[in-house]
Amino acid sequence: MSLDRMKIEGGFPLRGAIEIGGAKNAALPALAMTMLTPERCILKGVPALYDIQTMLDILKYFGADISKGDDKSIEVQLSVLEKTEAPYDFVRKMRASVLLLGPLLARKKIARVSLPGGCAIGVRPIDMHLKAFAALGATIRLKEGYVEAEAQELLGANFTFDITTVTGTVNAMMAASMAKGETVLHNCALEPEVVFCAEILISMGVPVDGVGTSVMRIKGQSQVGGFSATLIPDRIETGTYLVAAAITQGELVLKNTCANHLVALISVLSEAGVEIEVDGSQMRVKGNSTYHPVRIQTAPHPEFPTDMQAQVMSLLCLAKGKSEITETIFENRYMHVPELVRMGANISVKGSVAKIQGVPSLYGAPVMATDLRASASLVLAGLAAQGTTEVLRIYHLDRGYETMEKKLSSVGAKIERVEEKKSKE
Ligand code: EPZ
Repeated sequence: MSLDRMKIEGGFPLRGAIEIGGAKNAALPALAMTMLTPERCILKGVPALYDIQTMLDILKYFGADISKGDDKSIEVQLSVLEKTEAPYDFVRKMRASVLLLGPLLARKKIARVSLPGGCAIGVRPIDMHLKAFAALGATIRLKEGYVEAEAQELLGANFTFDITTVTGTVNAMMAASMAKGETVLHNCALEPEVVFCAEILISMGVPVDGVGTSVMRIKGQSQVGGFSATLIPDRIETGTYLVAAAITQGELVLKNTCANHLVALISVLSEAGVEIEVDGSQMRVKGNSTYHPVRIQTAPHPEFPTDMQAQVMSLLCLAKGKSEITETIFENRYMHVPELVRMGANISVKGSVAKIQGVPSLYGAPVMATDLRASASLVLAGLAAQGTTEVLRIYHLDRGYETMEKKLSSVGAKIERVEEKKSKE
């Protein structure tokens, strides 16, 4: 991982058009789903992101043939799957490797995957994933930092998630897709990325009822076929650029978007005073000179997404009045706060509640990225701040945003990626 930094000269309103890429959080589970079948799978509109490359490296490790098309399409075929263990080296790089458990269990009835460990934003346990596998008949053992799951056979079951979990829902869907009989999953996550995966599963020959609802019925199959699918747009990338236009008081047209994946965010931004116009797959967003304070509570879809909390906080630093954000999904997702405060923001955090008192201006400073969405919030603050901001450790950013500096520069931002200085020796 490089220690590049982003250097930003603030105060330039963004003007122009930005193309939104395919959803990272749909691509990762969809790539894991290619392990369910020996047939060829094609995923189109795949963004070039660090986490996507990690997932492709993992599929290669398991023996997949992978080829990339020039239209951001990726073909994967895992004709023979022999290995059943995902080593720590891969998993430690990306928590979404936990998505290997479902397909390994489904196709091989055995899986050994390193526990992902926590990450900056929280402990992020996978107990719900494991409970779902156990409900389908798997024996689960935790040994030496690995999850070992094994089943003579997987039997359809009736299972309720105690907590709504995005990747937990997809993992359970994958295991159920090759269980004997029907599985009914209750309290499923409703995120568009889960709907996308359910639709892929249907195209692989697995009947799924209740797609997009909290109760999904999945009829397990002995074999599943390949798929060809085009990724849904990345709703969090979309939201990030909506805020970029707002915070610089600019005007952008965002292309390849899906506004109905962002209803809660759009309503919050509109309430704050951002002008947003939806026209099919395009969104026109216009900033204003003043923003109203708002109260936000993050929650599972279709409520306000936790992955947009940090970015919207940057905007609220400049609102006229006191806003309040309650983060209900992760226990440590305010690490951008001390960095924003260094830029002149007036924010206080007590437990899961952040109170943001708007200030007339932010000031450029060297700041440290700690996680993917915190990095984005610091870039956004830098775009609006007076003076120069340097965001360090932007490898976090590269995990979820494709060439952010190029997209921003193309609409007038003064932003450049500064390569790390190689040490002399
Ligand atoms: C997905 O993570 C996303 N990642 C995250 O996006 C997103 O923040 C999160 O969903 C919530 O929307 C991918 O899709 C790859 P969860 P996931 O399981 O599935 C607790 C980004 O910025 N929980 O829905 O890991 C968990 O600790 C990333 O793109 C359990 O307690 O999230 C959290 O508090 C960050 N036990 C809550 O549930 C479990 O078994 C929601 O987690 C599973 C989860």
